[in-house]
Parts: sequence; structure tokens; C-alpha cells
Amino acid sequence: MNREQISAIAHADHPIKAPLDDASVRRLLERGLPRGDERVLDLGCGTGEWLLRALAAKPLVRAEGVDISEEALALAGKAARELGVEDRLTLHKTPAEDFASPHPFDLVLSVGSTHAFGGLLPTLAAAREHLAPGGRVVIGDGFWEHAPSPEAVDMLGDFADLATTVDRIVADGWTPVEGHVSTRAELDAYEWSNWGSLASWALDHPADPDSSQVLETANIRRSEWLHTYRETWGFVSLVLRRTPGR
Ligand SMILES: C[S@@+](CC[C@H](N)C(=O)[O-])C[C@H]1O[C@@H](n2cnc3c(N)ncnc32)[C@H](O)[C@@H]1O
Repeated sequence: MNREQISAIAHADHPIKAPLDDASVRRLLERGLPRGDERVLDLGCGTGEWLLRALAAKPLVRAEGVDISEEALALAGKAARELGVEDRLTLHKTPAEDFASPHPFDLVLSVGSTHAFGGLLPTLAAAREHLAPGGRVVIGDGFWEHAPSPEAVDMLGDFADLATTVDRIVADGWTPVEGHVSTRAELDAYEWSNWGSLASWALDHPADPDSSQVLETANIRRSEWLHTYRETWGFVSLVLRRTPGR
């Protein structure tokens, strides 16, 4: 079973691929879509959950999603048809760093996808290129809640603490107009759901040739989370506007 298939099973009960609950996603989208007729771009959209929720809530919004995963984009397209929003959603299978558009966007989303650009500030630089005057960005990325172990840095990457993360964003010419730090309940719900869904699939498919590999993956990933980063890793999502004169 490849990474894409494992990811699809792991996220079966938590379609937002980031540690945010539905109310947090709704609140951030509300702040990102103050008019209700915006053109929205999601860089690293995965299965398009943020876009689908924006389209379902705001009948005048139009959206485009960019991802390299054919499987994830196929699921996004299927869900859009089921919701009846497919005429307002365009999906692009292309690396987000190569995506070009003839028109700018009023809202650029990138949640849990900053690795596509090599980090937070390069992601914001890309978002800036796509942003219409007066537009907003919703960005979500990790930070260290407490000093990490070397193993945690190896596993998740090199983040800063929350204050330093926001300082860097402000120094880059952005003003946060809303923010959400994922709660312990949201962080835990995300991990339990991912590794629990994988384990359940394996237990429900004992005759499948991939069953033991999937169960082992679920056990390893749950253990890595509990032993290596549960106490130190956090996740922050921000709604940003350009700072005047920057
Ligand atoms: C953790 S998921 C987040 C998905 C979505 N933003 C969400 O919150 O549900 C990260 C996504 O980034 C995508 N990705 C990774 N590298 C990429 C790249 N270079 N260009 C576009 N998408 C990329 C992956 O395929 C995956 O769907």
C-alpha cells in the first residue's frame, strides 16, 4: 500500500488534514471570506475540504485547488459533485510552487502544506504573488510549544516557538487579523483519529495482504506521536492581511 492509500484511510474520519475541529475551520473561513463572493485559492488543497466548506457555505464563492496528489484531487472532485458545487471548483494537479493563474485571488489558503514551498515564509511569498489587493491569507503551520528533542526535529522539521513564528510573519509584512492555536483536544483528536482509523481498517481486513503492514504503521505512528512530539508540537492557523506600505 502506498503513502497516498495509507493517508486516505488515516483521514477517513478527519477529512481536514490538520489538527483543527469543524468549528475552528468555520471561524477561520468566516474571517477569510468577509464579503461572500471571493475567489479562493488553496495551495496544497489535499481532498479540498477547506474549499468544499467555503463553497457550501457561500454560494457566490469560486475556488481553485492545487495539489500533486491525483488520489486526493479525485476525492475532492467527487465530493464537489455530491455537494453540487463542482461548477464553482477548479482543481489543478500541479506542484503548488509551479502554479500560475491569469487572475489574482481574494483568499489564499495553505494549511498544513508549507513543506510544499520549503517552509512558512516561502509559502507566504508564493501566496503574496497570487493575492488580489486587499486580499487575505489563511495559513496553518506547526510550532514548538516546548523545546523539542532532536528526534522530534528529525521527525517533524525545524519550527520556531509561537511568538517567534508570529514575529517572523509580521516582519515579512503581514498583519494577523485572526488566529487559532489548536487546542490539546484538537491535536489529540487528530492523532487518535488518524492512527485509530488505520488500525481499524487493518483489524476489519485481516485477510488483506496489506493488513499487517497497515496495523504496524498505525502502531509505529501512534507510538512516535506519544513518545516523541505530543508534549512539544503545536499548530497555529492565522488569517493575514498585508501590512500597509510593506
Ligand atoms: C497535510 S495535507 C493538507 C491538506 C489540506 N490543506 C487540509 O488542510 O486538509 C498536505 C497536502 O500537501 C500536498 N503537497 C505536498 N507537496 C506538494 C506540492 N509540492 N505541491 C502541491 N501540493 C503538495 C500533499 O499532497 C497533501 O495533500
